[in-house]
Amino acid sequence: MPALVVVGAQWGDEGKGKIVHFLGRSADWVVRYQGGDNAGHTVVFDEQKYALHLIPSGILQTGVKNVIGDGVVVNPRAFVDEIKMLEKRRIKVRGRLFLSLAAHVILPYHVYLDTLREEGGRGIGTTKKGIGPCYEDKVARIGIRVADYLDAASLRVLVRQNLKVRAAELAKVKPLDEIEAEVFDGYEARRRFLARYAADTGLILDAARRKGARILLESAQGSMLDLDHGTYPFVTSSNPVAGGACVGAGVGPTTITGVMGVTKAYTTRVGLGPFPTEIEGAVARYLREVGKEYGVTTGRPRRIGWLDLPQLRAAIRMNGVTALTMTKLDTLSGVHPIKVCVGYKLGKKRMAQFPPARRAQLDVEPIYESFPGFSGDLMAARKFSDLPLGARRYALAVEKALGVPILIVSVGQSREQTIVRDTRRIWG
Ligand code: IMP
Repeated sequence: MPALVVVGAQWGDEGKGKIVHFLGRSADWVVRYQGGDNAGHTVVFDEQKYALHLIPSGILQTGVKNVIGDGVVVNPRAFVDEIKMLEKRRIKVRGRLFLSLAAHVILPYHVYLDTLREEGGRGIGTTKKGIGPCYEDKVARIGIRVADYLDAASLRVLVRQNLKVRAAELAKVKPLDEIEAEVFDGYEARRRFLARYAADTGLILDAARRKGARILLESAQGSMLDLDHGTYPFVTSSNPVAGGACVGAGVGPTTITGVMGVTKAYTTRVGLGPFPTEIEGAVARYLREVGKEYGVTTGRPRRIGWLDLPQLRAAIRMNGVTALTMTKLDTLSGVHPIKVCVGYKLGKKRMAQFPPARRAQLDVEPIYESFPGFSGDLMAARKFSDLPLGARRYALAVEKALGVPILIVSVGQSREQTIVRDTRRIWG
């Protein structure tokens, strides 16, 4: 049975939340496989707006079951708060959400360490949610997993050991016994809360797959923020690329039948780091305001740029993208001309590929092709043929240049504002 991975093809915020919610209609399970509450997925559903950080967007789709996989880092407080927020809004979560016992937990000292590093002069613009330090502990094999968190005695021992390891840095924040007390403040209630959701999610997913369930694997962040394949060191600490789905959900590569890459019709990024097609000025301000380009998690204004074909080709390659979704085509309406980066210049050299070296990523100059642009309100379009000719030409030119079909075009936040060009090919 099909298993589709939905990945961000740029630097995150491509609109994956909406697309996962949309495709969730034809899924039985939605699985989040990496990242933590650094993510921000905005989903508009029944005219209500939901900002999800940790819980898969499938939770808003009645009948869909959801998994937070082994590869995710979970802040227990954020987990409790997000479920309470959903329940307050009458979304049933119990029995529909399973939290991997192998996922690592983010504790208050991870947040302190993240903030210390960000403010210590060598920051990369993280979300300060403790993501990096938690993954560092995981790799150093001193991490604390959900299973450990549920066992009060083990947790106490592990937290004390870890606070000692981090003592030199944490001493700048507050005494270690105060930090330890923070970990355990309100702990018993949180422990009982998490215990209701904790499960061996690898086994659950395998059983579902054997019964023929359709599984949608949802990434957070974007390919260019991937720890191995992104614009290192200006990246997150996990693997948003499709390969990360197998690792972070505990499903084998042979299970995956399709990879849907999600790209905006232009580009944005938050945080520091290379961004070859970044623009400033009137067009950037226009796109930021019309496109509401402010971080869902941190509220930071997003950096804005033109679509970058070498960057997208890199994302298509590293993910094995089989189909694309183009979001926010409506936001480009009224922009004349629209530019698309078709290659780079580095000194006298011309390049067709996104360069791997950090210096080159910063120094390349984009070579642009211009499109005439289009006007009018695209938000009412429901078929590709409803779009203005200029918008269709733009999407088709991008599709041709990338060699991957754009099967879905999004022209607004709500589910209805989605144009599907060919349903049959989506799941691979
Ligand atoms: P961290 O994931 O908080 O460690 O931040 C590392 C980098 O990833 C920073 O540039 C963040 O701005 C970026 N980042 C993390 N989560 C998101 C997201 O959901 N959307 C866009 N950028 C993100």
